[in-house]
Amino acid sequence: MAKLIVTIDGPAGVGKSTMAKRLARELGIPYLDTGAMFRAVAWKLGEGSWDWDETRLKDELAGFDFTLSGVGEDSVLSLNGTPIGNEIRTEQVGMWASNVATLPVVRAYLKTAQQSLGARFSLVAEGRDMGTVIFPDAPHKFFLDASVEERANRRFHQLEGLGKPADLEELKEQIARRDHQDRNRAVAPLRPADDAVTIDTTELDKDRVFALLAEHAGER
Ligand code: DC
Repeated sequence: MAKLIVTIDGPAGVGKSTMAKRLARELGIPYLDTGAMFRAVAWKLGEGSWDWDETRLKDELAGFDFTLSGVGEDSVLSLNGTPIGNEIRTEQVGMWASNVATLPVVRAYLKTAQQSLGARFSLVAEGRDMGTVIFPDAPHKFFLDASVEERANRRFHQLEGLGKPADLEELKEQIARRDHQDRNRAVAPLRPADDAVTIDTTELDKDRVFALLAEHAGER
């Protein structure tokens, strides 16, 4: 049976995961956090891996296997059989992820992994290039945006909730730097798909954003 794919793209800290989990729950399908895949690769390969030569990177990536189980917020993404945990949820690992995400060899590997998950499961897939590159034929595409101040604020509270307090000003700077790299890289830069519904969430609360997503996703 054909799989339903909903894509949610947008910059760091905009609330993609919260919305993707909630929409996936509503639809009764898994959600796929592709940022977690880039983070897990960066975390496993370690600092400086973005300077390795392509052969070494390819060899390492050949030993990686991502699997997905569960539905909605209970979706579990695993790397080589181990669920990906909160160790990847720091701004530093976010920057490492953004660094490895500039490399065509890493993107090619994860593109195959993401598309094969999309062939097996219906998904709410969130990331930077879901609507443009990975699932260009998805019937529902969203691009969430918000000011960098608002996103730093949200990330600040999210990290606080994980017991990882951060400095707000520093977060703002880190997020702006990461966005710049994600928007300006040569391969699959962050941008809305031509047929995506763009929602500026700066002034909207979560329920309002979710209502807009649900409304559009229910249209077709
Ligand atoms: O969504 P996130 O903050 O967990 O993503 C971490 C980094 O991974 C992000 O700064 C860029 C990269 N990424 C990407 O290039 N493409 C995706 N589809 C998802 C994430």
